[in-house]
Amino acid sequence: MTPDELLAMARESASQAVVPYSRFPVGAAVETHGGRVFKGCNIESASYGLTICAERVAIFAAKAAGADPVAIGVSCLRGNRDDPSSLTPCGACRQVMMDQMGPDAACHIDGVGTFTVSELLPMGFRLPQPVATSPE
Ligand code: THU
Repeated sequence: MTPDELLAMARESASQAVVPYSRFPVGAAVETHGGRVFKGCNIESASYGLTICAERVAIFAAKAAGADPVAIGVSCLRGNRDDPSSLTPCGACRQVMMDQMGPDAACHIDGVGTFTVSELLPMGFRLPQPVATSPE
């Protein structure tokens, strides 16, 4: 799948966004190791803090289906093309990309370009391996 194809699906997903408060629709599309695509849009809550971003919806949908996300496309339909900050993923989504896709995965950002997750989140946090499961 090309970056443009993934971005076209991300834009399509944004049409499902539930954004009564911000009126800022975002769409995402995740490509998996097996070549499947999972879409996501932002969904806002009357309890504002419960809002979830498009990127996390798409990544979690892929994980919930047992798939392995390898690349993501993101489109902020109403972002300002002259202001890349209004088009790029938030910090929470960058962390979830790091957690679930790893530092070398590709993130295609509509109107901005393609970056690795580690470029978007330099010195990002990862638990030491193996993960400690109980306090010593
Ligand atoms: N939003 C996303 O879906 N992804 C991002 O990376 C940034 C922000 C959503 C959250 C909220 O519904 C709206 O955009 C405005 O912040």
